[in-house]
Amino acid sequence: MKFPDRDPELKCKEEPPMATRSVEEKNLVGEAIAMPSPLTDLTSMADLTPAMAAGLLELAALVKARPAEFRQALAGKQIVLFFEKPSFRTRLTFESGIYSLGGHAMFVDQLTSRIGEREPISDMAHNLERWVDALVLRTFAHSTVTGLAEYSSIPVINALSDYEHPCQALADFLTLQEKFGDLTKVHLTYVGDGNNVAHSLMLAAALFGSHITVGTPKGYEPQAGVLELARKIAAGTGATIQVVNDPVAAVQGADAVYTDVWASMGQEAETLERARIFHAFRVTPELYAHAAEGAVFMHCLPAHRGEEVEAAVIDSPASVVFDQAENRLHVQKAILLQLLGGAARRQPARSF
Ligand code: CP
Ligand code: NVA
Repeated sequence: MKFPDRDPELKCKEEPPMATRSVEEKNLVGEAIAMPSPLTDLTSMADLTPAMAAGLLELAALVKARPAEFRQALAGKQIVLFFEKPSFRTRLTFESGIYSLGGHAMFVDQLTSRIGEREPISDMAHNLERWVDALVLRTFAHSTVTGLAEYSSIPVINALSDYEHPCQALADFLTLQEKFGDLTKVHLTYVGDGNNVAHSLMLAAALFGSHITVGTPKGYEPQAGVLELARKIAAGTGATIQVVNDPVAAVQGADAVYTDVWASMGQEAETLERARIFHAFRVTPELYAHAAEGAVFMHCLPAHRGEEVEAAVIDSPASVVFDQAENRLHVQKAILLQLLGGAARRQPARSF
């Protein structure tokens, strides 16, 4: 069940975010960034419109530049994190982000039992909506995320499922925007497994009007449904979405080369077989040399040096992996603020 009018503070301006304005220009006293329509959950990048996605990056940039103005924005809000898989970055950036906004985070370790095993997801949702203000979920099945979003009246955030990793993709596009400016001119290449990270990057590229090439071995391409959805969104934004099976062709002329682990969490039994299959897709200095002059290297982390990427690439000055990791914090704060109406509770610094 969705409650689109849950928070009247999220009633938004009609015009799209003014992406061309600087953070300084946006710091007009009392102005809160608002989006063109309310966002109720972030289960997938596809929950966002292009304007909402741009608005989230705009808010994230503001939160990054002026964190002190949002210290009490989530005061009194309780947010629960349920994680079925390990996490370093996602858990800590959510917990730290929630506390820095004045909210309270509760972590529930689901490593040994999956959500919905002990009782129906719908019953859990109807309990949780009476106790807390938002849920952050890291799951195996994507249906666990969409199920809790469907049955609860509180916002649900996907902090990685087998299908998508939207918080990561938003942080990655904030990083690209910081490095290159206009996202409509950016060509991102992802090489490796057509997995959850690849799915979210394709949908993000589509929303931001960027150009993405995904290079995978045959049989490891992104899901056809995601490609279709990304191309449908791209038709309205000018983005281009390509999937190829040749790593050199994929990287040719790219502004950013991105890779991820070959065996995602839950696929550990396939590690050896995948190491053989993905060998040609290693990001080596030789493969990287096919990218554009000044190209950056990206990875969501954790990385395996000597497998999907050589140390000579990930540890080079071209690597922006720690900028990506930092931006997880700012983007997730923006997501929470938007979902919980916190942007309107910003306290802008007054300059007289
Ligand atoms: N990139 C990312 O999600 O990292 P963690 O698995 O450590 O949370
Ligand atoms: N594809 C990886 C991403 C880790 C952040 C996984 O799902 O394990």
